[in-house]
Amino acid sequence: MGKILLGISSSIAIYKACELVRELKKTGHEVKVVMTPFSERFISRLTFHTLSGNKAYVDWEDDPLLHINLPRWSDLFLIAPCSINTLSKIAMGIGDNLLTTCALSHKGLLMLAPAGNVEMYKNPVAQEHLQKLKERGVIIVEPEEGKLVCEEEGQGKLASIKRLLDWVEWGLRPKPLKGYRVLITAGATREFIDKVRFISNLSTGLMGLSLARVLRWYGAEVKVIAGYTSVEEPPEVEIHKVVSAQDMYQKVLELFDWAHMVIMNSAVSDYKPASFYEGKLKKQESLTLHLVKNPDILSELGKIKKDKILVGFALEEEERLLQEGLRKLKEKNLDLLVANPLQMMGSEEYRAVLLFKDNTKEELYASSKLLGAELLVKKLLEKLLKLPLQSLPRA
Ligand code: CTP
Repeated sequence: MGKILLGISSSIAIYKACELVRELKKTGHEVKVVMTPFSERFISRLTFHTLSGNKAYVDWEDDPLLHINLPRWSDLFLIAPCSINTLSKIAMGIGDNLLTTCALSHKGLLMLAPAGNVEMYKNPVAQEHLQKLKERGVIIVEPEEGKLVCEEEGQGKLASIKRLLDWVEWGLRPKPLKGYRVLITAGATREFIDKVRFISNLSTGLMGLSLARVLRWYGAEVKVIAGYTSVEEPPEVEIHKVVSAQDMYQKVLELFDWAHMVIMNSAVSDYKPASFYEGKLKKQESLTLHLVKNPDILSELGKIKKDKILVGFALEEEERLLQEGLRKLKEKNLDLLVANPLQMMGSEEYRAVLLFKDNTKEELYASSKLLGAELLVKKLLEKLLKLPLQSLPRA
């Protein structure tokens, strides 16, 4: 878990910073807050002191080296909300309060999440400063479009808490996968019988989408092909929505050349109705559905994979997890088969046996799918890409 220095400058979006501190703490991070004097007109330091469990600073008080010590203590310096005034001062190297002086002495990763009126944000001077900051390696978490507190519409809303939290996790991880492209399929496919009915399965897409998040944290470029999903989509990841197994197959083939690694996590329907009724089928005494086989996408990819890394999943009854997993690993020509026990379905926790092409196997357990996804990514790095994490620097 990380040590987060959270800078807060004056914007009405400051009310979201309270929740941000709370969520960072809940995730297990340590948070120290440094505020601009003007921002205290909105919310007092006592609120941030209470939420973070650490003293919140507006000025140097009795430590003349606070502007050195706070950044040195931190793993990451995030300023959210960052007013246009504060970002412009940082771009020009002005240190006229504790927060901007901390930004001057900070050597590590700096992230700014601007918030402000759309005209202020679009102002050419502000844009020039943003450009300059980006060129210097500062991460700008772009504001979102929508209705602003000033009643105007446009880009200026502080990034959502979810996005900010995701960027913090990104900032705390090394980037061994920089330049590495991963294609992931997630969620359930749907095979329509008529215009309103379909065959599908219980997949929520949580594991596939969690893998996408975590792979981005480690620097990979990620594209997701998603069937139906019922969990929140990961921020900053390109998502291609598809419906049926056939749609998914086509999209996978389209993006296959782009990828270095393909992870087939989607629960693909093995069958589809032989015909589709253009309308709504009327009720009758009995109905027989004639199903035909869908392509096995993973098997087809196994035939054309060449030097790409191919990862498959299998959901199996505990008793035949290994036997079936090994069969699928070989038959589908995979580098890794992640075998999940059926008994895990519907539970929070994550359990899997990883079966590698070199005949080794590893068991994996985590208390959540997100933590499971991170353990899995670490195994991919170590065993398939031969990148030991201990030797890697942070972002
Ligand atoms: N898969 C696929 N195309 C299909 C069915 C499955 O690409 N038509 C992929 C899944 O994304 C998963 C892996 O194959 O990565 C295993 O899926 P699973 O349904 O467990 O196995 P099947 O090969 O379909 O075999 P069975 O249903 O008999 O267990």
